[in-house]
Amino acid sequence: MMEQIEKTAFPKDFLWGSASAAYQIEGAYAEDGKGMTNWDEFVRIPGKTYKETTGDVAVDHYHRYKEDIRLMAEMGLKTYRFSISWARIFPKGKGEINEKGIAFYGDVIDECLKNHIEPMVTIFHWDLPQALVDSYGGWESAEIIDDYVTYAKTLFQNWGDKVKYWITLNEQNIFTSLGWLTAQHPPGKFDDQKMFYQVNHHAFMAHAKAVLAYRELGYKGEIGASFAYTPSYALDCKPINAMAKSNYDDLKNYWWMDVYAYGRYPKAAMTYLKKKKIAPQMQSGDEEILKEAAKEITFMGVNYYQSCVCEYNPLDGVTPYGTMNTTGKKGTAQEIGIPGIYKNPANPYLMTTDWDWSIDPKGLQFCCREITSRYALPIIISENGLGAFDKLEEDGAVHDVYRVEYLKEHLKALGEAIEEGCEVLAYCTWSFTDLLSWLNGYQKRYGFVYVDRNEEGGTLNRYKKDSYYWYKDVISTNGENLYK
Ligand code: BG6
Repeated sequence: MMEQIEKTAFPKDFLWGSASAAYQIEGAYAEDGKGMTNWDEFVRIPGKTYKETTGDVAVDHYHRYKEDIRLMAEMGLKTYRFSISWARIFPKGKGEINEKGIAFYGDVIDECLKNHIEPMVTIFHWDLPQALVDSYGGWESAEIIDDYVTYAKTLFQNWGDKVKYWITLNEQNIFTSLGWLTAQHPPGKFDDQKMFYQVNHHAFMAHAKAVLAYRELGYKGEIGASFAYTPSYALDCKPINAMAKSNYDDLKNYWWMDVYAYGRYPKAAMTYLKKKKIAPQMQSGDEEILKEAAKEITFMGVNYYQSCVCEYNPLDGVTPYGTMNTTGKKGTAQEIGIPGIYKNPANPYLMTTDWDWSIDPKGLQFCCREITSRYALPIIISENGLGAFDKLEEDGAVHDVYRVEYLKEHLKALGEAIEEGCEVLAYCTWSFTDLLSWLNGYQKRYGFVYVDRNEEGGTLNRYKKDSYYWYKDVISTNGENLYK
């Protein structure tokens, strides 16, 4: 901000990390008593995923977790963020516990601790027991709140003494938008705006009650949610474009972060939803619970990939339902927005990835500054990374210089945010190994470790990329090498 910073000191105990999610890495989808999930079903609907890819095998982490954690240890990783699959613990979503599921995650946690890696657990990263969908529509019913809390408490009771970092929900804004507005995620509903807000309210209540349960059980660790934060810039100083940005922020960002941090919905957005008759129904007592839980969270989790631009969108303008680029063919994503409110044109100052995501390191600094000013909360960057095509060379090397460049610039921007007073506890790259990118198959790679598999299959052997060695140095120098 104020002046150029030459070198940044990350705090001594900074948690250099990396992240994953159960469905994207584990495989073993029908093994050891695991129940079916909404994703196990959804990926089988023709046309939903790139080349009909599934996570049935994924990168076989379920059988290779020791090898993967050994690679993390060798790198010096300080924290590993991973998610637990609800259906491995409760195959039917509730009721009987599957001891083999408890054993698996217990082993993963112990393996991390043995290697001095702080486990950071995501309780829900999108894979929902199908039984709960069949019985009451999953997140569509308020019944899910108690089932989620029972599931979360089971995790706390098993590992509350060992795991100090808990993330209640991964990207509530994304799984609900793609699930109930754009039909790209389960349950594949299109433009069901009223249900979208209702589902979100149930998710907020589930989050809040789990946070309160964690404290009631006496645990003093860190707990919060991870939000997919796409910060916005107004196109220019034309007042309707500035207002478009403000509307975007209320509807797309503060709608979630204000509830996590303050326990209340942003007023202008709520007024708008009430006028449109799509505001969520709340039960008496909900507001108090949201407010109580907001006092108990200890960080804002941020998944940051890109920023966006906001411009006024006429009533006959673009909709939220433009085509997404899931093929990696640059320029195939369409502009989106809400008619009469805002639209998100491309930013002419930024480069994009092959999947049309803008590349904006400053945006990460911007997120941290906004959170610090608005919520005064510590921050965990729970995801940040570059999805790219990688090439495995004959000698087993992968020269992903573009990923090193991407991460380096984002870390420097994060360093600036820290220098400016933001309290950042951890930074997790997405991802440690290559994994299944939900809609984009296996060809969109994020890892430090290349996994030899494509849409059809492969040996599943692991290979360290150049970025692996680079991040190892970042960790061992506590960020000093970023400035060389
Ligand atoms: C986040 C998710 O949305 O971004 C991850 O939490 C996901 O699960 C990551 O994989 C990257 O998105 P994509 O669509 O490129 O896989």
